Amino acid sequence: MATGITIKGLVKRFGDKTIIDHVSFDIAVGELVCLLGPSGCGKTTTLRCIAGLEAPEEGRIEINGQPVFDSAEKLAVEPYRRNAGMVFQSYAIWPHLSVFENVAFPLRVRNTPNAEVEKKVMRTLDMVGLADFRARSAQQLSGGQQQRVAVARAIVHEPDVLLFDEPLSNLDARLRDATRAEIRRLQRELNVAAVYVTHDQAEALSLADRILVMSEGRIHQAGTPQEIYGAPRDAFVADVVGATNFLDIAVHAVGDGTVQGVAPDGAPLRVTGRMAAPGPARVMVRPDRLRVAPDAGEQGENCLHGTVRQRLFMGGHYEYAIAIGPTVLRAFSPVQVAEGGRVTVSFEPCDCIVLETRGAP
Ligand SMILES: Nc1ncnc2c1ncn2[C@@H]1O[C@H](COP(=O)(O)OP(=O)(O)OP(=O)(O)O)[C@@H](O)[C@H]1O
Ligand SMILES: [Mg+2]
Repeated sequence: MATGITIKGLVKRFGDKTIIDHVSFDIAVGELVCLLGPSGCGKTTTLRCIAGLEAPEEGRIEINGQPVFDSAEKLAVEPYRRNAGMVFQSYAIWPHLSVFENVAFPLRVRNTPNAEVEKKVMRTLDMVGLADFRARSAQQLSGGQQQRVAVARAIVHEPDVLLFDEPLSNLDARLRDATRAEIRRLQRELNVAAVYVTHDQAEALSLADRILVMSEGRIHQAGTPQEIYGAPRDAFVADVVGATNFLDIAVHAVGDGTVQGVAPDGAPLRVTGRMAAPGPARVMVRPDRLRVAPDAGEQGENCLHGTVRQRLFMGGHYEYAIAIGPTVLRAFSPVQVAEGGRVTVSFEPCDCIVLETRGAP
């Protein structure tokens, strides 16, 4: 598959702080990759390096096979010649310009003839459903409409890559869903490599072909949404991609792909994972993988007993906080149990994964 964006050994420092620390990744043409990670981990800086808005200290960046930055060759192509379309964290549209002129801007800076500007801007405004608003001042638009102007401006010049920096963070939930679907459709239609930065794990899971989880300027784990969600390499990744429960257990037998131990309440456990030897371990299980039932005294593997501390009605399910010994588990379940009620909480071995082992050699 053709490569849309290649990054090799990228290093960016601000003062004596290394913000991007030898980051390398490839994005295929047509692929949408989400950068996910806590505030300050370097997501925006990575995008700005690709767009040419920051000068990295080291590394090489290629767009569609063409080098646009190379520290060894002292190459740094100007931002507007990199042909990237970028939607910023704040959408940065110009309030004093009309919708048409906002979208026309990337074409004007490239000295595009007027007739072509007219044709391309109107086609793009059509795509984002704003053709009727062409003459309106950008100030007179709703937040969602302004966001679509920003998206139109990012794609009007038929960019080779699309860079989105939390483009939906200012929208309400319904508009966010609609605009997200629209961005995905447009990116597919343009068939370009896209990097999409978000804080929002649900957004990353639903949108991305691949997720890169970043931490302190490095790629901590890369994989499909299913891999990142289902097989996080540690507690940090498990937490970044969604609500999860961690349990500290004592493992007494190690098998091929599963281990056996005991839960904090003494219940016998069999969970998925590899350990060199028995010892303490931290395991994770997602709230939607826990089965909740009124306590009828069942015993057995992966069957814990606890008390409902809190119950929230979420529409399709209840969200429970269940105290099991000293540990509180979150569980999502359609089953109704009152606060204070005794419950059993059970799960399949495949849904509970060993994340970290301590003390084991
Ligand atoms: N121009 C700058 N000068 C100095 N430090 C900077 C500059 N820009 C960013 N930083 C620092 O670099 C680090 C990474 O910033 P960046 O904006 O890439 O984070 P981010 O992952 O996008 O975070 P957020 O999710 O909050 O947007 C932060 O510690 C930030 O303070
Ligand atoms: Mg940012």
